[in-house]
Amino acid sequence: MKKGALPKQFTIALFLFTFSPIAFSVDSLCYGQNISDGQKLTSSEGTFELGFFSRGSSAIRFVGIWFGVSTDVVIWVANRDQPLSSTFGTLIVDNNGSFALYDASEKITWQPTGIKNGSYATKLQLQDSGNLILKDLSSNTVIWQSFDYPTNTLLPGMRVGKNLKIGFETYLSSWKSGTDPSTGNYLYKMDTEGAPEIITWDRDQIKYRSGMWNGLYFSGQPSMVTYNDMFTFLFVWDQSEVSYRYEVKENNTLSRLVMNEDGVMQRLVWVETHQTWSEFWLAPQGECDNYAKCGPFSLCQPDGMTTCSCLRGFEPAAFTEWHMRNTSGGCQRKIPLGCTANSDGFYPLKGVKLPDSHNATVNANISAKECRVRCLMNCSCLAYSSSDITRRVSGCVMWNTALVDIKYLNGGLDILQVKVFKSELGASSKKQLMIIVKTISSVVSVLLLCFIGYLLWRKKRYSKQDSTKNSLAQNDSIKDAELPAFDMDTILQATDNFSITNIVGQGGFGIVYKGKLPCGQEIAVKRLSGNSSQGLNEFMNEVMLVVKLQHRNLVRLLGCCIQNNERMLIYEFLTNKSLDFFIFDAEKRTTLSWRTRLEIVIGIARGLLYLHHDSRFNIIHRDLKAANVLLDEYMNPKISDFGIARLFKGDQVVISTETVIGTRGYMSPEYITEGKFSVKSDVYSFGVLLLEIMSGKRNQGNQNLVTDAWKLWEEQSILKLLDKAADSTVFATELSRCVHVGLLCVQGSPDDRPSMSSVFMMLSSDNLVLPAPKKPFTWRSIGGFPPEHHLCESDIISVDQLTITGIEDR
Ligand SMILES: *[C@@H]1O[C@H](CO)[C@@H](O)[C@H](O)[C@H]1NC(C)=O
Ligand SMILES: *[C@@H]1O[C@H](CO)[C@@H](O)[C@H](O)[C@H]1NC(C)=O
Ligand SMILES: *[C@@H]1O[C@H](CO)[C@@H](O)[C@H](O)[C@H]1NC(C)=O
Ligand SMILES: *[C@@H]1O[C@H](CO)[C@@H](O)[C@H](O)[C@H]1NC(C)=O
Ligand SMILES: *[C@@H]1O[C@H](CO)[C@@H](O)[C@H](O)[C@H]1NC(C)=O
Ligand SMILES: *[C@@H]1O[C@H](CO)[C@@H](O)[C@H](O)[C@H]1NC(C)=O
Ligand SMILES: *[C@@H]1O[C@H](CO)[C@@H](O)[C@H](O)[C@H]1NC(C)=O
Ligand SMILES: *[C@@H]1O[C@H](CO)[C@@H](O)[C@H](O)[C@H]1NC(C)=O
Repeated sequence: MKKGALPKQFTIALFLFTFSPIAFSVDSLCYGQNISDGQKLTSSEGTFELGFFSRGSSAIRFVGIWFGVSTDVVIWVANRDQPLSSTFGTLIVDNNGSFALYDASEKITWQPTGIKNGSYATKLQLQDSGNLILKDLSSNTVIWQSFDYPTNTLLPGMRVGKNLKIGFETYLSSWKSGTDPSTGNYLYKMDTEGAPEIITWDRDQIKYRSGMWNGLYFSGQPSMVTYNDMFTFLFVWDQSEVSYRYEVKENNTLSRLVMNEDGVMQRLVWVETHQTWSEFWLAPQGECDNYAKCGPFSLCQPDGMTTCSCLRGFEPAAFTEWHMRNTSGGCQRKIPLGCTANSDGFYPLKGVKLPDSHNATVNANISAKECRVRCLMNCSCLAYSSSDITRRVSGCVMWNTALVDIKYLNGGLDILQVKVFKSELGASSKKQLMIIVKTISSVVSVLLLCFIGYLLWRKKRYSKQDSTKNSLAQNDSIKDAELPAFDMDTILQATDNFSITNIVGQGGFGIVYKGKLPCGQEIAVKRLSGNSSQGLNEFMNEVMLVVKLQHRNLVRLLGCCIQNNERMLIYEFLTNKSLDFFIFDAEKRTTLSWRTRLEIVIGIARGLLYLHHDSRFNIIHRDLKAANVLLDEYMNPKISDFGIARLFKGDQVVISTETVIGTRGYMSPEYITEGKFSVKSDVYSFGVLLLEIMSGKRNQGNQNLVTDAWKLWEEQSILKLLDKAADSTVFATELSRCVHVGLLCVQGSPDDRPSMSSVFMMLSSDNLVLPAPKKPFTWRSIGGFPPEHHLCESDIISVDQLTITGIEDR
């Protein structure tokens, strides 16, 4: 609470003796009152303001509501399609029970719709929720509210949906452009037919659908679950309404869900400390989100490249078109359904976005078993699924028309049971001809190249061929594919034949050289040690992952180079090297201000949050440490080194491994002692890193930072932990808060550690009340730090092949 710093009496005195504008701010207008251009209403806590505005260079004026802290963000526009032509507009609450916007000639420009029966005595009030309400003072009831007529923004508490009794629909519609609030082409609207879901419309075409609500999340948006500690998502479906809304768990958090002018839904949260909006989520993401991308009875896989495949038991309806990468015709059944008691069966399609459910039939009260029987008995039923995955009696959704828009999701919990002729069930999917259409984008071509290399390597491993011959083959395949990989000569030239003077560091599994391309671009070349077959595995892992990851807090991979036994990764070059150069160096440390350090901490948190939850792949980094955080010229942190990162599926909470790898001091207790790791292991590493950044000391050997921090916490002198190299008096509150978060992250039990989304919120908000940390686990209690041999890099586990061989398993 920064603002609470002044004593109360002092504040009041100040208020009395100055003409603070707050003294005149009003949140409401009674009948007969008005505001004209230049005046505004301010909600009681100042969260929202209503007034006149224009956009761009245009002189036309609109009346709208915006955030008090972020006045450029307009969340509602009254007269979006009836702009005022001059600054002589007036918003008047009429004496006859309504209100209207009048122009210079006192003609009504705009008035609200839906006010049926007004009274004379009304009051227009801007509430702190952002809702503008018109109240009938005689009965004290709300007769109109702006929440019922949203423009492009859904605030906490607002609904998208339909009142089934009177047919009234509430939906979002985009602005025409960033500078034109008038109604644009995109709608965000509940489809109440079948199993309800929210549709993004582009004029009269479906652009994207959320997928039906499965009791926990919208079937196409499993990442909603990861935000459950920040938001509550509410879906209502009963006799009188179908609606969706969300609430924010912390009252002081400002958040909005916006349909932007390109038809993209964005979820944004205000980050107080940075005075900016942070984007948490957006949809659609990637080609598989384009409605019916692969046509009926197909599955779209967003595995780096967009891949369309037919469901099992189906084949392309038009082979030639499929080969020409035109998949719009979709797939058709190979063998028609028998439609007799014993002729058909089901196969489960796990972890998918359920198909368009507009024509589906829903019965919430029957079990999955009963659902199966009913679907089998009815020839027109093509597939079924649960309508509520949170209940044991799980309800029944049956599809009777073509299955459209199925997408494979990482972490999806829905299972679609697809009906096929029984003989199709026995056949192994691997034997069947799989038609794959790859939509290759430029980013992906690098991936494909490396993928080919990987296949060749696997072949080599299994057939034990002569290795020199094979590496030549690898090389050839690169040339054949004509893909924009870097060739060896370019790299040699760029790094001056791998000159020692160009060595900038030693990452995991190799040396990093600085280089300069002929065009002047600086690059970092990571040269992997050539004689270890394990290395190629890590190499592929890193390439596969990093190429698909795009975030400003992650290091960007530019390409790779494979030649004979040489394998290299080419990254963007970051001028300021890695974080450990700064925080553990007595001199450089003094150049790191607290503001910079806080921003570095937040940046790392943002990058890790993206890895854990926001990227299309859920990734555990497993080796987060100061040396793996690089800094660009503006000291923005970027996480690097994904050599041992590991993908995890959404339902795979804890992964066990026999071989523990990582870096001393950063590894969580459960990982070292039991070989278990989860996202919470990364949270632990993050906590250690945070304490290191704050203290300027390594958590290593005899210097156990975690124990020290806990001791100081108990003595209530946590600020003593802070690096003396920088003056800490200015940011005392932020810093102790930061260390507090650090302590929460290094709790002994994974369950006691917050998720990265909570960490990010705790770091970004001044208002959240943080739980008190418990005593962290210390190695002393089990007789010191574990022996070194646990941590040997040569024991590295093999890559999870989920992304590479995924198709065949579904
Ligand atoms: C608006 O209210 C002011 C008094 O607050 C009044 O003088 C003025 O005439 C009103 N304007 C209109 C257009 O009603
Ligand atoms: C109030 O009066 C205006 C004209 O002054 C009229 O246009 C508007 O419809 C009236 N509103 C209601 C609710 O009767
Ligand atoms: C309109 O309001 C009057 C009195 O306020 C009431 O008698 C009447 O029933 C209302 N009409 C409707 C349609 O609500
Ligand atoms: C948030 O606000 C509501 C209503 O104003 C209140 O009931 C609730 O306790 C508040 N929650 C927190 C965490 O402050
Ligand atoms: C794609 O194939 C469909 C038939 O499957 C055809 O109607 C359509 O014209 C084709 N589109 C293009 C762009 O070739
Ligand atoms: C729903 O059924 C109608 C009529 O049979 C059909 O035109 C439409 O394509 C179907 N929609 C979906 C998503 O299957
Ligand atoms: C479903 O079950 C609930 C409670 O078990 C009951 O209240 C409801 O009426 C049932 N609905 C139908 C359509 O049978
Ligand atoms: C089969 O399902 C369809 C669609 O739900 C329904 O219209 C039809 O009555 C069902 N047929 C039987 C025999 O139950």
